[in-house]
Amino acid sequence: MSTNASTTSYQHATTKTVTAGGVDYAYGELGTGTGVPVVFLTHLAANLDNWDPRLVDGLNLTNQRNFSMTTKHLQQPLTVGRVELPHRLAMAPMTRNRAQRDGTPGPLAAAYYGQRASLGMVITEGSQPSGDGQGYPNTPGIYTQAHIDGWRTVADAVHAGGGSLFIQLMHAGRMSHPDNTPHHRPPLAPSAIKANQDMYTADGAKKSALPREMSLEDIRQTIADFRHAAASAIAAGADGVEIHGANGYLLHQFLSPNANHRTDAYGGSVENRSRFIIELATAVADEIGADRVGIRLSPGMPLGGIQEGDGVRDQYRHLVPELAKLNLAFLDVFHVGDDELLREFRAAWPTALLVVRVGRSREELAHDVENGLADVVPLGRWALANPDAAERIFSDAPLNEPDPATFYGGDATGYTDYPALARA
Ligand SMILES: Cc1cc2nc3c(=O)[nH]c(=O)nc-3n(C[C@H](O)[C@H](O)[C@H](O)COP(=O)(O)O)c2cc1C
Repeated sequence: MSTNASTTSYQHATTKTVTAGGVDYAYGELGTGTGVPVVFLTHLAANLDNWDPRLVDGLNLTNQRNFSMTTKHLQQPLTVGRVELPHRLAMAPMTRNRAQRDGTPGPLAAAYYGQRASLGMVITEGSQPSGDGQGYPNTPGIYTQAHIDGWRTVADAVHAGGGSLFIQLMHAGRMSHPDNTPHHRPPLAPSAIKANQDMYTADGAKKSALPREMSLEDIRQTIADFRHAAASAIAAGADGVEIHGANGYLLHQFLSPNANHRTDAYGGSVENRSRFIIELATAVADEIGADRVGIRLSPGMPLGGIQEGDGVRDQYRHLVPELAKLNLAFLDVFHVGDDELLREFRAAWPTALLVVRVGRSREELAHDVENGLADVVPLGRWALANPDAAERIFSDAPLNEPDPATFYGGDATGYTDYPALARA
């Protein structure tokens, strides 16, 4: 293969363009000496429409067209588990605290998610699988018939707009307060160690409560609750679930040595701290099919008082290959910035990799897909503020600014009233 075509340098890689059969292709090297180019090339070949490595033999390097590889890459369709995505953007999970008191999605939830269906893969706000799992006021649940009926209206709206719905299953663990749960009991956690965070309650901010260390029976019950929640999501018409293993909540607490001081099979070593997540993901995959299950991880994310410390790489170098064996539909990484670890995930993970890079700019949005480090780039705040975020990004149109004052709780303001492009 000839490689002396035009070369564009990006932040994370060198991308070269070649023309074959009248079509421009890009291939890349993720820096030098990383050992990753082969992965990227293989990945690119597997995912680029019309790509046929044999075409490269007939390279026509004199007849190159200029076009934006950014647009080209992000607009490629992709199969994730059982769903077909129209492009590589998605909606990241975002808590909005507008559910009814019993955890049934609020009356505007179907409109809000339905408006955003053109994002393709719509991942919902964190939804508790049980009363114990609730951390904040007015978050939705996915464990009663009323919850299922409420989520069905959301699934129908997203499907009507051509999107697919993944309900995020979130157990807050110690990031909770008895004021916020239906039973007002102390939160559950791997160990009785406070998160020491301010929690929003109906009476204003209060410190997160001292949690109760989970017994083996609590662990068994929590895994059963996730199973039931996943089955409930499917009963509601969702296309799948995302297990929330990130951002300082229960699963992340098990991984973290400063939140998990257990001396049984669920604490101590890297293997033991990973056990709860692996058992839980195995159970959820068994319940609804691995190809309808994704998981979110955030290595090194210091949220909720979590400090993973020096062992963070070892932790995830064990966990991710173990989860990879389950053949889940996707891994969603909320990425703090350890690119070496991310490249290892890419090599170890057999299915779709979603990457949300903290602090990326609009210009950087496509880099990880271009460079083969990610398959899908979920959008958080831009999806919140732009019902038509994908169209805007693909057409280089301006984006509405999100208003943090209306992120959590409230009514239609800052929820269903962000204008689409035609009305902006
Ligand atoms: C209002 C708000 C609520 C969020 N809630 C969740 C959540 O429930 N679960 C989760 O995994 N991440 C949550 N996140 C994080 C987002 O999924 C996303 O990773 C983050 O906003 C970074 O992406 P962005 O820069 O595109 O906004 C939330 C973010 C925002 C802004």
